[in-house]
Amino acid sequence: MAILISGRGSNMAALIEAARAPGYPAEIALVLSNRPDAAGLGLAAAAGVPVAVVESRGRPREAFEAGLQAVLEAQRIGIVALAGFMRLLTEGFVRRWEGRMLNIHPSLLPSFRGLDTHRRALEAGVRLHGCTVHLVSPGVDEGPILAQAAVPVLPDDDEAALAARVLAQEHRLYPAALAWLAAGRVRLEGGLARVEAEAAAGALANPLPGPAALSTQRAQE
Ligand code: GAR
Repeated sequence: MAILISGRGSNMAALIEAARAPGYPAEIALVLSNRPDAAGLGLAAAAGVPVAVVESRGRPREAFEAGLQAVLEAQRIGIVALAGFMRLLTEGFVRRWEGRMLNIHPSLLPSFRGLDTHRRALEAGVRLHGCTVHLVSPGVDEGPILAQAAVPVLPDDDEAALAARVLAQEHRLYPAALAWLAAGRVRLEGGLARVEAEAAAGALANPLPGPAALSTQRAQE
């Protein structure tokens, strides 16, 4: 498989680390960046993973994607994981990789597609925020959801604090979701992804309804 990045590469690093474990069902054969200055390239090279750059800047989208496709085919890549890859892909490219291309997005989709998700979550006053791993469909941040992790939004959060809390969960969630796809544990059914994995039962709540809330509820009954 290949990881596509544009920047820092912390999710990439989490995937590389996870894939080192014996029995992990995917081999990371390539890290590819559309920007030559992406910090993640250095991390990947230091970890011994082959790296490549296909520059997107100043090129028509089709020419860029033809270059991308050529590198992926030359390396006989089977699965692509977008990890902070900040370039929109055409419908044609996405269709070629349908069912084989994953993305991680820093929100609980379908809320907050696009950029500045943490700022927008704070502005909206949501009490739970998080991240999503999904198969990539042609729309922006769209496609069958494989897994989500939710974190609380705390009263004193600023964008950086919330981003850090979400990022820690991204680093846990992405390696797991990639492993499910690589191991053939993901089925598509009516446009939704079914994953053979243990599902969390119960509910997440924030703030927690404490004893006072419960006693009020009892009084009303
Ligand atoms: C991550 O938070 C990822 O979810 C987000 O960019 C960051 C990349 O960080 N991706 C998107 O916003 C894509 N829509 P990283 O380079 O350290 O993994």
